[in-house]
Amino acid sequence: MCGIVGYIGKNKANQILINGLLKLEYRGYDSAGIAVIEDKNIICKKDIGRVSNLYKLEGINDLTGTIGIAHTRWATHGKPSKINAHPHLDAFNTFAVVHNGIIENYNELKEDLISKGYKFYTQTDSEVIPNLISYYYKEEKDLLKAVNRACKDLKGSYAIEVISKEEPDKIVVARKDSPMVIGIADDEKFIASDIPAVLEYTKDFYLLADGQFVELTRDSIKFYDENLNEVENKIETIEWSETASSKCGYEDYMLKEIYEQPKAIRETIGSRLNENEKCQFDDIEIDKEYLKSITQIRIVACGTAMYAGLVAKNTFEKLLSINTEVEVASEFRYRDPLIDQRTLAIFVSQSGETADTIAALKLAKKKGCKTISISNVLGSSITREADYTIYTHAGPEIAVASTKAYTSQVVLLELLAIYFAEVLEKDSEEVKTLKRDILELPKKVEDTFKVADEIKELAKQIYEQKDVFFIGRGIDYTTTREAALKLKEISYIHADAYQAGELKHGPIALIENGITVIGIISDKKLLKKSVSNLQEVITRGANVVVVTDKNLSKYNFKKVIKVPETNRLISPILTVIPLQLLAYYVAKEKKLDVDKPRNLAKSVTVE
Ligand code: G6P
Repeated sequence: MCGIVGYIGKNKANQILINGLLKLEYRGYDSAGIAVIEDKNIICKKDIGRVSNLYKLEGINDLTGTIGIAHTRWATHGKPSKINAHPHLDAFNTFAVVHNGIIENYNELKEDLISKGYKFYTQTDSEVIPNLISYYYKEEKDLLKAVNRACKDLKGSYAIEVISKEEPDKIVVARKDSPMVIGIADDEKFIASDIPAVLEYTKDFYLLADGQFVELTRDSIKFYDENLNEVENKIETIEWSETASSKCGYEDYMLKEIYEQPKAIRETIGSRLNENEKCQFDDIEIDKEYLKSITQIRIVACGTAMYAGLVAKNTFEKLLSINTEVEVASEFRYRDPLIDQRTLAIFVSQSGETADTIAALKLAKKKGCKTISISNVLGSSITREADYTIYTHAGPEIAVASTKAYTSQVVLLELLAIYFAEVLEKDSEEVKTLKRDILELPKKVEDTFKVADEIKELAKQIYEQKDVFFIGRGIDYTTTREAALKLKEISYIHADAYQAGELKHGPIALIENGITVIGIISDKKLLKKSVSNLQEVITRGANVVVVTDKNLSKYNFKKVIKVPETNRLISPILTVIPLQLLAYYVAKEKKLDVDKPRNLAKSVTVE
């Protein structure tokens, strides 16, 4: 959470920093600020609200400094306010710091610094960092060393950038459990918490390892380990194009990303799956003997990524006959789960930076599991921890509400299940059919978009409602959960997902005249059961909308949204699309900021 940008080079830093922050707003958007070094002084400009507010700050456009740091905040400690916004300065205005993460022992550090004469002005945990640096600088007289000493005192997670008027031609960067990259171009260096922030300037990046320190000047860049031994780092060239992280004529990132799903799925399939060939995963070494030895598979993730796991559970169990459980990372990590070396643990995270998912992965490793991470971001933290990593290749996802990353995660998990089935020589007719159906998916996703106008109309009918219910059975229940999450998070309508068969055990009491119930039906075996459950709510006055790939004409539902038919195991990829669009258009009807819903951030790097 929170976004960080930094610049050191020949050009004016202000515009580059604000530009970068605008691209990072999905990480947090309650306040923002920049600090540049000008005439050996630190000039700091910050304010509450969106990044664009920075343009209104007096003098910000006239800054000429060519070194600077910047931050967009998602508040943890201290409410959103100008004073709590980053950058934070030490009590003597000599050091400026932006920080992403949480300093868990900030209270103790603060008390100690107060006893040493330091004054504090904010309610943030971050403010201890510049003051600690200031304290150690007195002794070290070297910015890198002072930052290193300060970091040794910090408990928690951080990615920080530091500038100082004592050493005005330098930026020092450090990270622990919070991402940071450094982009390199001719005589210029761009620091960012996420690649898209500076993708318009360079495609060549150093991805910082945990515990690394970096000292940047205009013409040098040096990397150090936590004991300040100089270390090597290699440049990675990022394939994402700049347009991949711009709106390309779409009104919002979310809409663009919804429509990018056919492409994202094609990229995820890539060369891994071809008809009449065995599924390929060059990046993992898992053999038949190992797969025969495991007793269970665990898929662990947060939010939408967890729902992707729930879809895939059906395929893993069906194709492999291996018990597969899916769990939320924030619960898993504190639950002492029953896992051991006979458990294969798979961790799914679009960003690869979700704190709970990373902690869950570390726990699984400690308990002896083999681990696979699934991520969309090259070199992200989770990929450094797992035994093996496979990438979704969905391209940058900017909107807070996940769409194309979700469907790509489902596809990748399906491919993985197929791959394991083939390694186990369980390549049944079912596997062959699923392979063919996955290859047809991108085209079917394109066909699904034909429902967009119908969905726009539906959004007009329901945007004023207070509650919406989503019901389904089996694999369709999984989709109801993802659909309800999408609607809640961007339209702020309360939405509940329920197993259609469970409705009678309580929630049906909430069904009254005019309430909207959206049913999903794609499982032929459960069709009649689901239809009966929908009839029960119609009888009680609900307006029912059915999303289905089946022909339901004989049931006379008033509103049916028809999607193309596909394999039951991957039907959630098609049934979710109208519901992604519904959430989007309802939020638009309510004139909400679709890409940046209130209180949320795209990457949850705190627990
Ligand atoms: C946040 C995002 C969700 C995402 C979840 C997990 O809540 O808003 O869209 O599904 O984090 O993120 P990850 O990057 O681990 O997939």
